[in-house]
Amino acid sequence: MAEPSRSSARVIAVANQKGGVGKTTTAINLATAMAATKKTVLIIDLDPQGNASTGLGIDRGAREVNSYHVMLGEAALADAVIATNIPGLSVVPSGVDLSGAEIELVEFERREHRLKESLAGSLAAYDYVLIDCPPSLNLLTLNALVAANAVMVPLQCEFFALEGVSHLIKTIERVRQAFNPGLELQGIILTMFDKRNNLSDQVAADVREYFGDKVYKTVIPRNVRVSEAPSHGKPVLLYDMKCTGSEAYINLASEVLKRERELLRA
Ligand SMILES: Nc1ncnc2c1ncn2[C@@H]1O[C@H](COP(=O)(O)OP(=O)(O)O)[C@@H](O)[C@H]1O
Ligand SMILES: [Mg+2]
Repeated sequence: MAEPSRSSARVIAVANQKGGVGKTTTAINLATAMAATKKTVLIIDLDPQGNASTGLGIDRGAREVNSYHVMLGEAALADAVIATNIPGLSVVPSGVDLSGAEIELVEFERREHRLKESLAGSLAAYDYVLIDCPPSLNLLTLNALVAANAVMVPLQCEFFALEGVSHLIKTIERVRQAFNPGLELQGIILTMFDKRNNLSDQVAADVREYFGDKVYKTVIPRNVRVSEAPSHGKPVLLYDMKCTGSEAYINLASEVLKRERELLRA
C-alpha cells in the first residue's frame, strides 16, 4: 500500500521552558532517525545558545546567515539553510544575536507570526520541520508555537516535572485561542530515564496517568553516549548507533511516524 503523504511539511516544535530536559538532543536525534527513513527534514535552531547547530557539527563561521536574520526578515529562510553530513537533514543554525531578537521584534507588527511567514515558501521542500526552542516561553518560543502544526514536549523524569509542564500546556492553550487554533500536542517524550532511580518510575507513572496515550511508549534512557555525542558534532545515532540512547531514538521516530500516518488516514 502506498504511503499517504503530505504536499507540505509537518512542522513540529520541540518545546519545554525548562532547560536541560532534552529538547535539543531530541530534535537532533529524532530528525536524524527520520532522515534515515528517507524523510527530508529541516531543523530550525531557535535557541541563541546554538546547541543544535553545534551538535550537528556546524562551525560558528558557517552561521553568518542564521535564524536571527530569518526572524528579523533580513534573510529568506532558504538562504539560511545548511546541509548537514546526514543525507536528507538540513539545519537553519542560530546565532548569538538571536538573544536580542525578542526586543527588536517588539517593534514589528504581527511579531508572533514572523517564523510562520518566513517558513511558508519553504514547506514544500520538506517532510518534517523540527523547531528546537529556547528554554523559555518567550517570543521566540511563541513564534515556534504559531508556526507549528504540533508540539512535542520532552520531559525529564524528575520531581516537579508535571508542575513545569502544566504551565506549558496552558501556554499552548492560549496560543490556540489567540493565533493557531489547529495546534496539536504531538506527544510527550520521557527523557533521561534512570532505571536505578525509583523516582524516575514514579514520575513516569504520574505523567502517563495524567496525559494518557499522549505519552510515547518509548522512553529515552539516561545514557552517557548521548551526552558525549554533541562534543563530536554528531547525533548519537552516528556516534554510536548501537547504544541504548540511539535505539531509543530510532524507536521514538517510528512511533512518531506511525502517529503521523494515522493522523493522515484519519
Ligand atoms: N538521554 C540522555 N542521557 C544522557 N545525557 C543526556 C540525555 N539527553 C540529553 N542529555 C544531556 O543533557 C544535557 C541537556 O540536554 P539538552 O538536549 O541540551 O536539553 P535542552 O535542549 O532541553 O536544554 C546535554 O548535555 C545533553 O547532552
Ligand atoms: Mg536546547
